[in-house]
Amino acid sequence: MTAQGSPQTGNNLDPWYHHYAERAAGLRASEVRALFAVASRPEVVSLAGGMPFVAALPPDLVINAMGRVMREQGPTALQYGSGQGVPVLREQILEVMALEGIRAHADDVVVTTGSQHALELVSKLFLDPGDVVLSEGPSYVTAMVIFKSYQAEVDHVPMDEHGLIPEALREHILSVRAAGKSIKFLYTIPNFHNPAGVTLSWARRVEILEICRRNDILVLEDNPYGLLYFDQPAPDAMRSLEQDGVVYLGTFSKTLAPGFRVGWALAPHAIREKLVLANEAAVLSPSSFSQLVISEYLSSADWKGQINTFRGVYHERKNALLSALDEYLPELTWTNPNGGFYVWVTLPDRLDSKAMLPRAVKELVAYTPGTAFFADGDGRQNMRLSFCYPTPEHIRIGIRRLATVIRDELDLLDTFAGTGSLNPLRENSRFSSPPPDIS
Ligand SMILES: Cc1ncc(COP(=O)(O)O)c(C=O)c1O
Repeated sequence: MTAQGSPQTGNNLDPWYHHYAERAAGLRASEVRALFAVASRPEVVSLAGGMPFVAALPPDLVINAMGRVMREQGPTALQYGSGQGVPVLREQILEVMALEGIRAHADDVVVTTGSQHALELVSKLFLDPGDVVLSEGPSYVTAMVIFKSYQAEVDHVPMDEHGLIPEALREHILSVRAAGKSIKFLYTIPNFHNPAGVTLSWARRVEILEICRRNDILVLEDNPYGLLYFDQPAPDAMRSLEQDGVVYLGTFSKTLAPGFRVGWALAPHAIREKLVLANEAAVLSPSSFSQLVISEYLSSADWKGQINTFRGVYHERKNALLSALDEYLPELTWTNPNGGFYVWVTLPDRLDSKAMLPRAVKELVAYTPGTAFFADGDGRQNMRLSFCYPTPEHIRIGIRRLATVIRDELDLLDTFAGTGSLNPLRENSRFSSPPPDIS
């Protein structure tokens, strides 16, 4: 059967193929998705996903909060709520944001179904086909999926170990405008960047805000990881410096648990009004139950202590990852994040992280190829390694397997290049005889 009985409208796999809106063309499963399905098998060490280690959250903290909510506010928790979110939770969100220097009013907070949904709503409000979103290169993959689904173009501004480079931002603004295109906002992840792991310095925060102010560009500051620092806190949020030109996104996904699906946007007043209307149109109201449980958790549990626990867990895992890289893959380069979940690795330039992934999965280790984080196919020489979920021991095993994969890949390239020469990694004694796999 084809759509409307017409044999020409569909294809063999999807009879509705020609009926989709143009914007649905941006919604394509990535080529590595099937591999990730395999990578979720327990024997694979996955350094690919960004799943928080929720097992570090004592279940009683959640069970107690849920019980109290149901006993004391059951009918409200099970009912529809306000499109803007539960007022008491919006007040508590102010306390969370105050930890990163933000002073705001609860009226300007909109609770969303995770910060992912806030990204969707902001995009819906601002993006027309052909508009440009400036973002770091690389950038958060699922934000780019949304931007593309609104038929916007992503223009990547380079970054270095101090985050987005202001001078490059100036140049990109000029060149995008010279091409007659409209820039709708700068999407940035200033803290413990996903995927790059770097943090935007304070001086650059000030400078970038000034550039955006002068050029009339809204800043979309996405900050899921800011409170998960290791040695020292990140600089205060960009929103702490600028109220009118920043939409700030926060979430409870990484500091509590993503299963609640509760995040928020803090927006200038006029944008906030439109966000509430868009939120209502999309979901009527964010989950009353989740919001009340989180509110109860924030008022009765030691949430700051719990964030400290998470910090300790992730810090230990980051150290395990970096020391394994030092030991097994010393010739590669990588970022050293002071928080968050991710390390960005640069491979020898002959390697292609995307092409190498099937071999890695076969060797029971998974990573995310750098190409996933660029809108333009860049990133073949990079990979993102996540240290949030596997234990330190598994991280070591995973890196040891990865070392074998990289060595074999370089050998293969050498063989086909006809040089027969040993690759530089192979010449390293630690590398050339990886210890036996203990798993
Ligand atoms: C940079 C960034 N933004 C937003 C999100 C979405 O988080 P959530 O919708 O769970 O709040 C994530 C999740 O990994 C992320 O890494």
